[in-house]
Amino acid sequence: MPRQTICLIFLITGFLTCTAQEAYHEPYRLQIHFSPKTGWMNDPNGLVYYQGVYHMFFQYYPDSTVWGPMHWGHAISPDLVHWKQAGIALYPDRLGYIFSGSAVVDSSHTSGFGGKKKVPLVAIFTQHDPGREKAGLNNFQNQSIAYSLDGGNRWTKYTGNPVLKTPGLKDFRDPKVSWYAEQKKWILVLAAGDRVMFYSSKDLKSWEKESEFGSGTGAHGGVWECPDLIPFEVDGKKIWLLLVSINPGGAQGGSSTQYFTGIFNGHVFTPSDTLTRWADYGPDQYAGVTFSNTGKEKIFLGWMSNWQYGTAVPTLPWRSAMTIPRTLGLKKIGQNYYASMMPVKALEKLVVKTVSYKQIPQEKKLNLSGPTRIEFKLATAHSFSLIFSNPAGQMLRAGYDEGKNAFFIDRTRAGRSDFYPGFATIHYGPRIAQSKDVKITLILDQASLELFADEGLTTMTEIFFPDQPFTALQEEPGGKQLTDIRISQLRSIWY
Ligand code: FRU
Repeated sequence: MPRQTICLIFLITGFLTCTAQEAYHEPYRLQIHFSPKTGWMNDPNGLVYYQGVYHMFFQYYPDSTVWGPMHWGHAISPDLVHWKQAGIALYPDRLGYIFSGSAVVDSSHTSGFGGKKKVPLVAIFTQHDPGREKAGLNNFQNQSIAYSLDGGNRWTKYTGNPVLKTPGLKDFRDPKVSWYAEQKKWILVLAAGDRVMFYSSKDLKSWEKESEFGSGTGAHGGVWECPDLIPFEVDGKKIWLLLVSINPGGAQGGSSTQYFTGIFNGHVFTPSDTLTRWADYGPDQYAGVTFSNTGKEKIFLGWMSNWQYGTAVPTLPWRSAMTIPRTLGLKKIGQNYYASMMPVKALEKLVVKTVSYKQIPQEKKLNLSGPTRIEFKLATAHSFSLIFSNPAGQMLRAGYDEGKNAFFIDRTRAGRSDFYPGFATIHYGPRIAQSKDVKITLILDQASLELFADEGLTTMTEIFFPDQPFTALQEEPGGKQLTDIRISQLRSIWY
């Protein structure tokens, strides 16, 4: 049976009609990452775990492969690895498009939705009114809520929307809500141009401003978006991680996620230092936030693309995917705190077989078949590089540069790059760990590579578009030899 998808794009309207004959088999379709069957996707939204199900909502425009009137798409998973796309959860309405936001489990019944019997899931999101924006007004981004009484499947918008109106700021969006147990209240953090603002509420409906943070601190080469505030315990101390995405002006120029560490007392965030740090040093992780209601384990998920070229990448009939869900941590290195991210343990479920090597003989090419996890060690931090290649003569390099004390991914010869000047380049991510030895995990999919070094202290995410998948792996001669190599073939999550 031919593996193809018949799509018609009506050039005038930009609308897309597809008959997906065998969805998930198309060129560049990732096999172990979530992507929508058809249509445009950006940020993960409303990430929440409830009664054995992980819900992933996402910025979604079902009628085209470029950004448009935003909906919340929906996918569910029992394990964070296998995803099933569900129906659209939230449609645009008279208050505007449905922009990014979060979801919480209101187990204390603070909102009153559903009486005392059913636990409501409550979604808090921005409504962006394109009409007011076009009219040059400054009140087009306001926060609304919706609730679900059936565990996250069907959503009802609150009749009193919007619940938090902009104070006259054009950029006032992406609310992330969490329960602040010590003061029995909800905390909402949202992005407001060059800063974040904190609000609090007892019932998710009426919100009071607490404070602001960030103007003059961190990176400011673009607008701040999609914040998240997460508590960790480090050496017996409660330290908060504040994620803030920024576009442009990210780690590699376009969009990426920076973070701050500090203390939050229910009112004010006080940073522990003034460093600028990035959650992921590759170009292709953006808008990453964490799941609600996962207890002590914090799970991070990002959009695996970049606003520089996200709407132009050569995929059809969909655009964009999410990263592998990652367990987020916070560690103290020297005097400062650093975030760490590693693929969730459940990825193990996809392992078909693992082959171990003490070392890879120089010049030997190993065959890869489909998505692959590669784990290895370096006894000391010396330069090396791994080359992934295909029969078309294209290659992707990933490694460590001792002179720069940085990891790198090189996509200069990794396939198509005609859709964006500057796509074919090398990206570096600094080594943060100070240990002698280096441990690295690479996750390769049809069109993406994620690098996790030093237990996730340096992470890099890259997408690329080779004419044929990369099916060979070798060490570049001359580098330091890698040891304890484990190569695991992973099975597709789609069939
Ligand atoms: C981030 C973002 C958010 C906004 C959404 C719109 O990628 O720009 O700030 O809510 O995307 O789709």
